[in-house]
Amino acid sequence: MTTWLVSNRLPFRIQSDGGLARTDGGLVTALLPVHESGTSWWVGQGGFPVDSSTQERLAAARVVDVSVPTDLAAAHYNGASNGGIWPLFHYFPAIARFRPEDWEAYRSVNRAVAETILARAEAGDTVWIHDYQLMLVPGMLREQCPDLAIGYFHHIPFPASEVFKIHPARDEILAGLLGADVIGFHTLEYARHFTAAAARLRDVAVVAEDLHVEDRIVRVGAFPLGIDVGAVERSLASPAHATALADLERDLGGRRLVLGVDRLDYTKGIRERLAAFERVLRRRPDLRSRATFIQLCVPSRIEVDRYDLLRQEIEREVGRINGELGSVGHTPIHYLFQRRNLDELTALYRRAEVALVTPLRDGLNLVCKEYVACHPEGDGMLVLSEFAGAAEEMGEALVVNPYDVEAVAEAILRALDMPKSERRERMGVLHARVVEADNRHWAADFLAAVTEVAGRNRTNASRSLEGPELTDLHRRLAAGGGLVAIDADLVPPDHPLLRQGMPGLTILLISSRPVEDCERSWSGLGVWIAAERGASLRDPSGTWRTGGESASLEPYRAEVLRCLEKRARLIPRSRVIVNHFSIHWHIGRRPSPLAEAILRETGAILDGILARSPWHAVRTGAGLVLRNGLHTAGTALTSVTEAAGLGSGAAVVTVGDRFSDESLFAWGGTANASIAVGSPVTHATYLVAHADEARELLSRLLAEDRP
Ligand code: UDP
Ligand code: G6P
Repeated sequence: MTTWLVSNRLPFRIQSDGGLARTDGGLVTALLPVHESGTSWWVGQGGFPVDSSTQERLAAARVVDVSVPTDLAAAHYNGASNGGIWPLFHYFPAIARFRPEDWEAYRSVNRAVAETILARAEAGDTVWIHDYQLMLVPGMLREQCPDLAIGYFHHIPFPASEVFKIHPARDEILAGLLGADVIGFHTLEYARHFTAAAARLRDVAVVAEDLHVEDRIVRVGAFPLGIDVGAVERSLASPAHATALADLERDLGGRRLVLGVDRLDYTKGIRERLAAFERVLRRRPDLRSRATFIQLCVPSRIEVDRYDLLRQEIEREVGRINGELGSVGHTPIHYLFQRRNLDELTALYRRAEVALVTPLRDGLNLVCKEYVACHPEGDGMLVLSEFAGAAEEMGEALVVNPYDVEAVAEAILRALDMPKSERRERMGVLHARVVEADNRHWAADFLAAVTEVAGRNRTNASRSLEGPELTDLHRRLAAGGGLVAIDADLVPPDHPLLRQGMPGLTILLISSRPVEDCERSWSGLGVWIAAERGASLRDPSGTWRTGGESASLEPYRAEVLRCLEKRARLIPRSRVIVNHFSIHWHIGRRPSPLAEAILRETGAILDGILARSPWHAVRTGAGLVLRNGLHTAGTALTSVTEAAGLGSGAAVVTVGDRFSDESLFAWGGTANASIAVGSPVTHATYLVAHADEARELLSRLLAEDRP
């Protein structure tokens, strides 16, 4: 089995001697341990020459270069990815651009990546796709090769569904991502946002941390990335680090160091940070000569206009502040527009008394973790934006709102003045946490989740009723005395199935609707009908009998209705329908987050009211229903088998698609051949993805000839 690591860019370059070297940076940090474990291949765009010696070198390093024409790659990367998705997902919708031709390129590049993998991967392999540039790849792979184990990790924020919905290709993006077995985010918040978007825009059921997408499970989870702790520790012990630290010490001449390290990106809050530092200098003139703020900006995405504008703006600001608050002997802000290697970085981290990591939005942010890892003795102090994903795990830092310049200035002063004991306490906890949850753990956790969920999905995929099992069931039904119980929503009233005349067969239709509606739909049919899911039962001659009254709602009815009607008024277009033995509150599919919250709250209140009764409230696809637990589809099935005189050896087939059908599936244990439509977690023996497949299967099963 091979693991395929997939990122937009390959983190390798050809050196002057022709050899292959690794480049530095976030994704490399994340995936290197997996690649070094020896069985994976890395797929992405590298722009390598196609000559045979280069290709041999790539193959030796287990690297596959996806070749994409330059203009297509630019429209995908600068346009759709960094001009559209990046700003939108970081809550800058006003500057996001969605040009249809860029999206075409996005699709083509995703297709090229998927095709490259499909040409090499085999069923059973694992594919781990990374980041927002490749969100369509999971779906493309799933469509062509359903038997792959697919993980997708999203390294940037996933915005609230109201913001995500702005993207013109939102449906395509969701469909692409939902091709994965596991979708990983850095924080629970992003996972929740994604789940809310999928539940609102796609036909998926949310069950705990899983989404049910047709007959597959998609796990949506938080897997906060860790840093390469080993690499940082090795660097701290290296001669190169010692030299860099000595050089820095000499240059700083004993001044206190405040540090910022970021790619030059408008999401990083560099402008706001400069404003906060300016405030610090104005409030504490003594620091103008005693403190230095080094802001290291790594050049990034320079082809995108926004980035160039930002650079000019920052350089102007640094010039202005230094001009106003500097002196002949001292420049308070040192701005560097360059990339540094790890040993130089760890020297900066080590020497800095305060690190300012104050992005306006950041998927996670590794810099803050690297800074903490460089302070094992608990010196140093971190000022961290609440809008960095890492804030979810790093509450011991001084957590700030980066837009609140005054509060950030306050936090910088507090960090500079913080007593040693408090620093040690805060940084000590952070250090222990960062060191423990390193990138190896992260990769192992994520891949373990992919293996688990893909395994369950494979098992489910093999739960189809076919071959000898189908023939055998057909034979048992055709022998006479069999029964088929079907959730009525799966078969339209005029469907030929209901008239299919396999001799001696009993058919039971189970409906949520009341007796009158059932009469209207199926009166002419010689089948059993369970109305309100079993509270009333009609035999094939048309006689109804009712069992629902045996545990009446009467003592609670007024209170239940008051609770429901009051809340129904809060949700537009929702309505309460009172039947004989069930009460339905319809709010429609895909409720808004507010409606969802009201539903949850109402369910809890109703559970309280009905705690001592056999009645209970159940969440359905379209709202809530109150039912009597003594009368279920399962009890209706028992009544019918008794009334029809079916012996214990009779073939019983049950078909349903909802939670309330579980009592059908569980009925009679293994004697019952149960078929669930589109619910991957179920007691049913067999699974099908769609209702039409279930009808097709039933037609074959009930055909007079062999299926
Ligand atoms: N980095 C680097 N050289 C530099 C500055 C930063 O290699 O001069 C690395 C840094 O060590 C970190 C990564 O770039 O691992 C930045 O990752 P982060 O998650 O903080 O932000 P991103 O750039 O991914 O938005
Ligand atoms: C973020 C993204 C990565 C991206 C990196 C650097 O960390 O999540 O996918 O590679 O920024 O951006 P760049 O555009 O230089 O690849």
